[in-house]
Amino acid sequence: MDAIKVKNVVKIYKSKRKTVKALNGVSFHVRKGEFFALLGPNGAGKTTLTKILATILLPDGGEVTIMGYDVVSQADKVRRIIGWCEGENGGRSLYWRLSGIDNLKLFAALYGLNPRDAEKRIWALLKFLDLDHAAYKLVKSYSLGMKIKLMLARALIHDPEVLLLDEPTLGLDVESTIKIRRFLKTLCNEVDKTIFFTSHNMHEVEALADRIAVINKGKIIFIGTPDELKRRVEKFKIVEVTLLSNDAEEIKSKLMKMPVVRKILSFQRRENTLRFRVLVDNLYEAISDIALALKGYKIERIERALPSLEEAFLRLVFQGEAK
Ligand SMILES: Nc1ncnc2c1ncn2[C@@H]1O[C@H](COP(=O)(O)OP(=O)(O)OP(=O)(O)O)[C@@H](O)[C@H]1O
Ligand SMILES: [Mg+2]
Repeated sequence: MDAIKVKNVVKIYKSKRKTVKALNGVSFHVRKGEFFALLGPNGAGKTTLTKILATILLPDGGEVTIMGYDVVSQADKVRRIIGWCEGENGGRSLYWRLSGIDNLKLFAALYGLNPRDAEKRIWALLKFLDLDHAAYKLVKSYSLGMKIKLMLARALIHDPEVLLLDEPTLGLDVESTIKIRRFLKTLCNEVDKTIFFTSHNMHEVEALADRIAVINKGKIIFIGTPDELKRRVEKFKIVEVTLLSNDAEEIKSKLMKMPVVRKILSFQRRENTLRFRVLVDNLYEAISDIALALKGYKIERIERALPSLEEAFLRLVFQGEAK
């Protein structure tokens, strides 16, 4: 069964000065119990789409249903079964003049939860998110990370079936991020929640998502598993060259001048070695040409490399762009 159905959604922002088509005919389905990630560069339309799913923004065209309920005509029903959390708003959807626990009690009451059940759930969530020590402190004294955790607790207070999380790990420290990711994975795998998640972090998405949609300029340009995304860009030819040198700039400029090199994707420095990942047109020609162009250096290794998910994503977004 599909938990989320999005069909031909259009959203246009109009102001006196300009018109922005933030979503331009977006369609996809998210299965029940699936961990679905939406990836895209800044301004791609991720937040706009998440807000439409969360009934916060109205679409200008198309249809969206969550667990069969229409987000426009049945918004009240949708709100009861979704939990929404937005990392990028820095906690502005909370009441900063109230304590953490009072915020959660307020939202529990708005959802009509029985106060005794709510209290138990609130403490369990606060403990899990390491916020129990700050339960009675005012939210305005919370750090950004604490505010985001409280928003996550708020999103989960009514035990929603579908979680809509817009960059929920933005601003969290490494330890909290790992904990939250593990928690979300458990919610999805063991408690069968459906998770719609946006992120800029490729490693995060690779580790968490069952399927990924890539959005760019308001259009979905790919939907599939992380493996399918990688396979789709297997034709994407990358040569990795590792050499003993400290002169990154000189090597970079040599590589950039080579006709066979389309782009330097990344480079890493480790002690005395440098490792470049280079996008090329012809693999075999490139390996021999690069070896020749860098023959004055001690080359440790030069070989074909598979794209990382991040490179695969960039390839989809910036198709055809050279050097
Ligand atoms: N309230 C608004 N008024 C006018 N234009 C807007 C508004 N909100 C977003 N936009 C524009 O719509 C497009 C999509 O923005 P959106 O915030 O959905 O992108 P995003 O993928 O979430 O980006 P980010 O990665 O920066 O969070 C952008 O061009 C943005 O400038
Ligand atoms: Mg956004």
